[in-house]
Amino acid sequence: MRGQPEPERGPADDLLASAYGPVAAELETVTGRVASLAAAGSPLLREATASLVTHPGKRVRPALLLLSSLAGATSEGGPAPDRARLVRRSREKVLAAATAFELLHLASLTHDDILDASPLRRGQPTTWARWGTAVALLAGDHLYGKALAQASLAGRRTCRAFCGLVELLVEGQARELEVSGAERPPGRRAYMSLATAKTAAFFAESCALGATLGGAGSGTTRALRRFGRLIGQAYQLADDLLDWQGRPDRTGKPHLGDVRNGRYAFPVVAGLARRPTRVARALARVSATRPGSGVPARLEDLRLELEAAGAFEETARQVRERTRLALACLELLPPGVPRDNLDLLALVLAGRTA
Ligand code: FPP
Ligand code: MG
Repeated sequence: MRGQPEPERGPADDLLASAYGPVAAELETVTGRVASLAAAGSPLLREATASLVTHPGKRVRPALLLLSSLAGATSEGGPAPDRARLVRRSREKVLAAATAFELLHLASLTHDDILDASPLRRGQPTTWARWGTAVALLAGDHLYGKALAQASLAGRRTCRAFCGLVELLVEGQARELEVSGAERPPGRRAYMSLATAKTAAFFAESCALGATLGGAGSGTTRALRRFGRLIGQAYQLADDLLDWQGRPDRTGKPHLGDVRNGRYAFPVVAGLARRPTRVARALARVSATRPGSGVPARLEDLRLELEAAGAFEETARQVRERTRLALACLELLPPGVPRDNLDLLALVLAGRTA
């Protein structure tokens, strides 16, 4: 199975690189460690994880952790500390924690692609599509084991955060399976709680753990946790919107994967709340059509119903609103680096097309 051509580097990539600027060297170290740990296994596991390593994605979680550790080192309590000294002191723990979180993320994506029977990720055939369920399961376990080892190197605080996250990820994913295609769809509140468990908690914990390891007090840690949760929610909402409005050559994922899998992503949840009868009827027609030629027309009908219901507009509004609230959380930090970088990162993620 072939992947798509590599997407060209765009202005959003440059903005992301600029947001990551102060921790670029550390992020490269984490990326290198992830690659060598993923490759440290049998040839089969090395090959089965190779695509995720050669296409590292946005690396948002380790970047948040690293930037928040800087925020921790430069916030609260008296004169601005010597950043270099503080960063050096906690550097190894921070790097191990960021590596653990990125490996955990890759493990969860590998397993997620099995659950979603998804053929494409980052523009490349998924491990599941290329190697089948058994190898994809083991590849995810392999990454998970390496993640756990890194978390233990980073210390007890990281291990506690890591375990809490795994529980939430699994819980979120199980709830998503439970409600997929269910007669009674989730409402907006249930959706948000699910999106928080499967995505936003990871962003929140990346920020909070980074801040703590960097030496932040409880006020800064709390603000950064809330910042992470809000941009994580915005991220998942934007992801749901991209399922409908994104170009697969940019997102690197199948078009309309959520709706084809019976997932209640936010545009459908909002559409059902705004125009229950018409949207439910269009949705039922999609589900009742057997895979084949009738599906694209039914999906187009559903898209028109969602458009008419204002569901896409509501989703986009939610992305903007949560990003606005997230930016307000940063007001506690002193101006400059890394506040400006977290600010920019939030804005780039909210406006992303990939
Ligand atoms: C992607 O969501 C998937 C997740 C955010 C979490 C997946 C979690 C698990 C499979 C359980 C935990 C696994 C381990 C190894 C601890 P999505 O399907 O909405 O996004 P996508 O469009 O990128 O696939
Ligand atoms: Mg998925």
